[in-house]
Amino acid sequence: MKPFLIVVAALLFDVVRSETLCDPATAIYYQDHVKDYTELLQGLIDEASKSNQSTLFLKPGRFGLRGHAPIVLKPGVSLLGNKNEPTIFTTLTDPPSNEPATIQVPAASIGWSISGIIFDNVNIDVQPQNNTRIAKVENNVFRNGGRGSIMSAFGTSLHIGHNIFLRDQAHAGTEFIPKYNTTNAGVVFETQKNSVITNNIFGLDLRRLDDLSPVVASAFESTFGKIRYAQDCLKLQWDDQQGFMASGVQLYHTNGITIRENIMNATFPDTIRIAQDHAISVVGSNQTYIMQNFIAGWQLGDFGGAIRFTSAVDAYVASNYLANTAVMMFVANHADFMQVDNLVLYNNFIYRFLDHTFGPADNQLGGWLYEGITFYDFWTARLNYTAKSPIWNSSVPISPFAHGIVITNNKFGAAGDLDPNVISMGNLDPKQSLVDRNNCYVTPPLVPESQSNKVPLLWRQSYKDGVTARFGSRIPKLIKHRVTRKLVEKVPDELRQLPFPDYWKAFTLRNGTVPMISPTLSCFR
Ligand SMILES: *[C@@H]1O[C@H](CO)[C@@H](O)[C@H](O)[C@H]1NC(C)=O
Ligand SMILES: *[C@@H]1O[C@H](CO)[C@@H](O)[C@H](O)[C@H]1NC(C)=O
Ligand SMILES: *[C@@H]1O[C@H](CO)[C@@H](O)[C@H](O)[C@H]1NC(C)=O
Ligand SMILES: *[C@@H]1O[C@H](CO)[C@@H](O)[C@H](O)[C@H]1NC(C)=O
Ligand SMILES: *[C@@H]1O[C@H](CO)[C@@H](O)[C@H](O)[C@H]1NC(C)=O
Ligand SMILES: *[C@@H]1O[C@H](CO)[C@@H](O)[C@H](O)[C@H]1NC(C)=O
Ligand SMILES: *[C@@H]1O[C@H](CO)[C@@H](O)[C@H](O)[C@H]1NC(C)=O
Ligand SMILES: *[C@@H]1O[C@H](CO)[C@@H](O)[C@H](O)[C@H]1NC(C)=O
Repeated sequence: MKPFLIVVAALLFDVVRSETLCDPATAIYYQDHVKDYTELLQGLIDEASKSNQSTLFLKPGRFGLRGHAPIVLKPGVSLLGNKNEPTIFTTLTDPPSNEPATIQVPAASIGWSISGIIFDNVNIDVQPQNNTRIAKVENNVFRNGGRGSIMSAFGTSLHIGHNIFLRDQAHAGTEFIPKYNTTNAGVVFETQKNSVITNNIFGLDLRRLDDLSPVVASAFESTFGKIRYAQDCLKLQWDDQQGFMASGVQLYHTNGITIRENIMNATFPDTIRIAQDHAISVVGSNQTYIMQNFIAGWQLGDFGGAIRFTSAVDAYVASNYLANTAVMMFVANHADFMQVDNLVLYNNFIYRFLDHTFGPADNQLGGWLYEGITFYDFWTARLNYTAKSPIWNSSVPISPFAHGIVITNNKFGAAGDLDPNVISMGNLDPKQSLVDRNNCYVTPPLVPESQSNKVPLLWRQSYKDGVTARFGSRIPKLIKHRVTRKLVEKVPDELRQLPFPDYWKAFTLRNGTVPMISPTLSCFR
């Protein structure tokens, strides 16, 4: 099968590629003025499709694409970027348009892939389809990219791996409560099935590539090389801080999604305040697997937190490193269904390094909602949405919508000058909360003199009167709660032994002042 090439100019064919980064011989690929390649690229795709060429091998260079109509990846064609000197697709800003250019994958494309490309404000839109053959988006860099760098609706069998998602400050989210149409995310799935998001980096400080190299899969080396090439050789003026997305992943009405071994360090609550949502937002999900991710810094507030479930059935959250972020389980009425059933939170490490002064300004609740693990049924707390605001105190009605919430073997820690988080069961029915005594602190507990390293449970916002912890946090009242034994039996076998990736070793938080601690520390004694 003859590879198809984007022909920049005939004379480029026999240039011998050199291993040296910034070899002057390669400079001829990259012209200062980015030309419009929209028609050429579409023409090459069309021709490849007609003549059964399965892969369009792309030359190095910067290729301008127009924003107003999508480029359609015709059936049978895959796109592959050049190996070393990067292939860069750039949305043309001349004539000016804020809309990113889009590569659209039509329903008739089966088993396609898009890999090895730098998408500079260009995104991928996968059209509704039922093709069970796996399609792949791999080893790309997505910078900016509108509502979502990769969007797929009513689709299945998409594998998103080893991509890097960047956003600069000029493309930060502007909506403080982003919605499906106004979000600013890496991946947006709507009614998507059986898909995997693994080994991606969401948000990055470009000065830290060398810190990350030793802890990420070697598959990233070539992509890091392309970023360095764009910076050092092409002198593309990208900001250092590329973590301004509202969300890493947004899921709406999904079934069978796995989010595994990703790095999500895309926010700056400690240095720069931006409109943020959740690292992973899950609205109306069924069978969601979230494992072994490193998630740091997402603003922890009503509309923040690492992983937020709004109505969920069968979700498993295991072996994630959550630095200043949390798992939130909410019942609300904007998903297809209301219930929060069979959520299993096992062996996560929750490390607090910022206090509530970094939370949202309207934190009149004293931060109770922003705990390490939090459940709240807003529907019921708002008296079936007949009340304007939820009841936040001990008279809040018990939720009829949640069942089988399993919380076991999670470890909690805090930086030296902060109280650690607790587990807030909100208005969960205690019979439905399966929490054992294996959730412990690895740093000094909330009440050091209590001789207990067990993480206290906060239920219906009931705190002890007149006492606070060392750094001012309120202390939950003891509740009568049946301790369930052998909860590990609720954790599927394949999730019980998952190691934490080394990602945390590359990070120092609170603007470079607070080091990470090991997620495998044993309980504080
Ligand atoms: C492409 O493949 C199809 C189906 O295998 C075949 O019918 C068609 O003749 C092929 N076209 C070319 C140009 O080879
Ligand atoms: C995919 O299958 C579903 C259920 O069978 C159907 O409703 C939908 O129209 C199909 N979508 C496409 C793009 O064929
Ligand atoms: C998003 O915007 C499109 C086009 O304006 C509209 O048709 C659609 O209903 C919106 N979707 C949501 C969930 O708001
Ligand atoms: C993580 O994000 C913070 C901003 O909150 C940034 O300062 C830091 O350099 C980032 N770390 C890496 C390794 O990208
Ligand atoms: C973060 O640290 C850098 C270097 O130590 C310093 O210049 C900068 O002012 C700090 N930023 C904030 C918001 O504290
Ligand atoms: C979840 O998915 C399973 C299998 O796909 C299905 O049987 C079940 O009805 C779904 N549950 C909800 C609440 O949609
Ligand atoms: C809310 O709805 C439930 C039935 O789903 C009902 O039992 C309950 O009384 C209602 N509460 C209020 C305050 O209306
Ligand atoms: C709880 O809050 C509600 C209003 O949100 C208030 O009417 C009620 O008196 C409070 N109850 C207690 C016990 O504080």
